[in-house]
Amino acid sequence: MTAVTTETARRAPSVGTAHTRVEGRDKVTGAARYAGEVPFADLAYGWLVLSTIARGRIRSLDTEPVLAMPGVLAVLDHRNAPRVDTDYTGLLGMRPDPTCAVFQHDRVPHRGWPVALVVAETSEQAREAAEALVVHYEQEPHDIDFTGERPDAYPADGHMPAVTEKGDLDAELAASAVVVDAEYTTPEEHHNPMEPHAVTARWDAGRLEVIDSNQGATWVVGELANLFSLDPASVRVRSEHVGGGFGSKGVRAHQVAAVMAATTLQRPVRVVLTRRQMFSLAGYRSPTVQRVRLGAEADGRLRALEHRAVSLTSTVYEFVEPSAGVARVMYGADAHHTSNRLVRLDVPSPTFMRAPGEAPGSFALESALDELAEKCGIDPVELRLRNEPDKGPVSGLPFAGRNLAACFREGARRFGWADRDPRPGVRRDGRWLLGTGTAAASFPAGAAPSTATATAHPDGTFTVRISAADIGTGARTALTLVAADALQVAPERVRMRIGDSDFGPAMIAGGSMGTRSWSWAITAAAGELRDQLTPGADIPPEGITVRSDTTAAIGALAPAERHSYGAQFAEVAVDVTTGEVRVRRMLGIFAAGRIVNPLTARNQLLGGMIWGISMALHEEAVRDRASGGHVGADLAGYHVATNADVPRIETDWIDDTDPNDPVGIKGIGEIGVVGAAAALANAVWHATGVRHRSLPIRPDRVL
Ligand code: MOS
Repeated sequence: MTAVTTETARRAPSVGTAHTRVEGRDKVTGAARYAGEVPFADLAYGWLVLSTIARGRIRSLDTEPVLAMPGVLAVLDHRNAPRVDTDYTGLLGMRPDPTCAVFQHDRVPHRGWPVALVVAETSEQAREAAEALVVHYEQEPHDIDFTGERPDAYPADGHMPAVTEKGDLDAELAASAVVVDAEYTTPEEHHNPMEPHAVTARWDAGRLEVIDSNQGATWVVGELANLFSLDPASVRVRSEHVGGGFGSKGVRAHQVAAVMAATTLQRPVRVVLTRRQMFSLAGYRSPTVQRVRLGAEADGRLRALEHRAVSLTSTVYEFVEPSAGVARVMYGADAHHTSNRLVRLDVPSPTFMRAPGEAPGSFALESALDELAEKCGIDPVELRLRNEPDKGPVSGLPFAGRNLAACFREGARRFGWADRDPRPGVRRDGRWLLGTGTAAASFPAGAAPSTATATAHPDGTFTVRISAADIGTGARTALTLVAADALQVAPERVRMRIGDSDFGPAMIAGGSMGTRSWSWAITAAAGELRDQLTPGADIPPEGITVRSDTTAAIGALAPAERHSYGAQFAEVAVDVTTGEVRVRRMLGIFAAGRIVNPLTARNQLLGGMIWGISMALHEEAVRDRASGGHVGADLAGYHVATNADVPRIETDWIDDTDPNDPVGIKGIGEIGVVGAAAALANAVWHATGVRHRSLPIRPDRVL
């Protein structure tokens, strides 16, 4: 027994101070093990075989010659794979995407659909055999044509109502002094984290153990338990280190295939996706066609706002990119109509990709606002300030803190906006035309129930356990600071254990809600532990542990419009002879709740803004109409912004503590990308006098 040695004097808070990643050394020295690297005795390797047709059925698979190849242990396909149950509702009320229920039937709904898993003693043997497997198909004509005018587009809810309509749109448009009516398009975009999707599954003493790269161990446990009709307590998912997620790392085909193989062979089985396979299996952002109509008084005040978005999904699963949702939060108008509609095509199911809805939606809406500012002859910042709503434009709910105007004022001051000549196409620097643009950003700020435990040890240290996922954001470090403050000790005395479903249910790293949700649970557990410890009292060798569950506290939050906000500013240079657009500088000022770790928070926001550069100028997945597959499904063919594309970017935040959160957090996961592409597109207009309503703004479109 050792005496309690917690510090009695109140410490200066760790939250708000810069801290390098607690696992940083492990990561740069290679000591940190990722899901595809954890060693297991007797490990077998699975390799997925993907369809080469975009629609039809599997007639037969020539498995016999493949089974005779060196090292090959099994071929799983629709004839012999274990059956799974897809009739359930999972986390966040979502139905499972049948894409994950692999090998259940002979239908092929898109190119790149998993048709078999080849398992072998080594990864190389599995790959060679998978590539040798001949699959015979009955091919049917496919349809991958996405346009906004398709008559088969239908309103689809997703996680928000498909349609909101208030007021008489035609009457308000007719009565408006100024009208903007424009169509905007964004292409299919892909999230390809540096670490590919990877999983190892094995049965261990009657439990299914899954070492996985994902955004939430609780999520994966729930889905696998449902699919395989298992007691969730008999499934353990671990994901200690995750090299990026961006929405793509939930449950996908490879985990299910690995569990099937581990069950069939009674051996540990690893399945890793290739970069190329990720383009079919990891989900992506749907292309969008968005029509925005704005009607305003001569002074810029909105009378009419219409935002109608169309996105696509597969024939097997309804996923909505809710691009019109952002209009329901940002601006009010007497007539306010929004809708999200879907077209179903012979393509893979899209999924959540960083700021789903807000990213493409803000491009259309914030570009239209800029067009309105131009037509009204009003400064774009001033136009937004004139249209600040005093309550939720559609919900009518009060705003739980809306500091957008403060972001614009601070951003405009630091960017030097007051000196801007509003006329387009008049500034030159040699062969470059220069322009500046701005846009607003918002993203929902939410929290979801989680559990955490905090343990006091006799040596004066503490262990905090929560099934959080650090997908590269620095969440583990942020949570260490939060725990240290709740325990009133130095962060060095706190061990943060995450990424293990045995720590109890917790929110996923998603919806910009991870750090806030986990911090709430940690604050509750650590705070109660702190209260239980009496200075000078003894702690038993096994320690003293307190568990928290935030279900009741979060459920008691009053309904309100809760969001983070931001103001984006950009300066571009456009080469009128080559059509090249270069970003010269960007500034983002955010009101995103209390910032836990300024170092990693800045990274997260910068990363989002860089993604905005990528979205505005580079990213575009191109599908080949004949094959239904991608042209250049790799990071050579699919362009993303690289170092040379990224100029001086500054990001900062204003004081914005959320009074409804124990730590004051709102969330910064996704807001960095919101509005960034619009600010850049608006800057291109200011440089050239030409509006670009289709992303990316490629050189051939500029010329
Ligand atoms: Mo996100 S798109 O909630 O990872």
